[in-house]
Amino acid sequence: MTALPVTIPESFIAVCPMDEPSREKARYWSARLGAPLVMQLQNEKQTPILVVANNRLEIHVGHSKQKGVFAEFSLTKAHAIQRQEGKNGLLPRAIGLRKHPHATVWDVTAGLGQDGFLLACYGCRVHWVERSPIVAALLEDALERGLADSDTRPILQGNVTLDNADAIDWLHAQRSPPEVIFLDPMFAKANASALSKKEMQVLRLLVGLDDDAPALLAAALRCHPQRVVVKRPLKAPPLDGRAPSFNLQGTTIRYDIYLAEMM
Ligand SMILES: C[S@@+](CC[C@H](N)C(=O)[O-])C[C@H]1O[C@@H](n2cnc3c(N)ncnc32)[C@H](O)[C@@H]1O
Repeated sequence: MTALPVTIPESFIAVCPMDEPSREKARYWSARLGAPLVMQLQNEKQTPILVVANNRLEIHVGHSKQKGVFAEFSLTKAHAIQRQEGKNGLLPRAIGLRKHPHATVWDVTAGLGQDGFLLACYGCRVHWVERSPIVAALLEDALERGLADSDTRPILQGNVTLDNADAIDWLHAQRSPPEVIFLDPMFAKANASALSKKEMQVLRLLVGLDDDAPALLAAALRCHPQRVVVKRPLKAPPLDGRAPSFNLQGTTIRYDIYLAEMM
């Protein structure tokens, strides 16, 4: 895991521990992100603040009494999705799990890690790339908690890694491609996502709309993996107007799949 850089979005204010036991973790993240440490939440405005509460890192926006947004890996949720989808579900078929049951997947729009965790539960080796230092911090914190949990450790340990980087540059620097590169960029309209509406709103506030997603797709295709999988809202046009080899449609989302021979 690489250290997060000290550059932080303008919208980011400070790190605040909610109580005495949270202080050590708050100090750590304050130093790591180069962000001021504050001891009291005075966050009346619609500005994000990083809070340590319940031994986890959360983003709060606006009034302190509202629940924060954080990354978390739930086996119960993942198993429910797996039961519902089965091996012939949309995501396993999009990734091509039948052919490559332990595919290495570069999830280059990691976000809060929900798709990546599901892929790890399906048996994939997942490498996350997330460019927002704040989102990457939430994810790294969840990964640490997940590794300390006896239920999720077997899924995560040795199978899941994380880089805080812009994936366009990161992909340019890679030498040998994985089986799959997975993209789930932010979309302008309300997006059918692995994340809740509130999580998406907070992510949008932190990272914007990923207007450079076409360049990310181009960088992924240039790596020549066996497939590039792009998650899209069902009715959205293909990313950059680039027709995929085929697509798989669900009720609210669609996976556009670009096979090696098309790249
Ligand atoms: C819609 S969210 C992804 C949600 C994710 N699939 C999940 O399950 O939590 C998109 C994320 O991709 C990140 N992102 C977009 N473009 C990126 C890039 N070029 N490099 C790295 N991360 C990027 C954004 O910062 C944002 O956190």
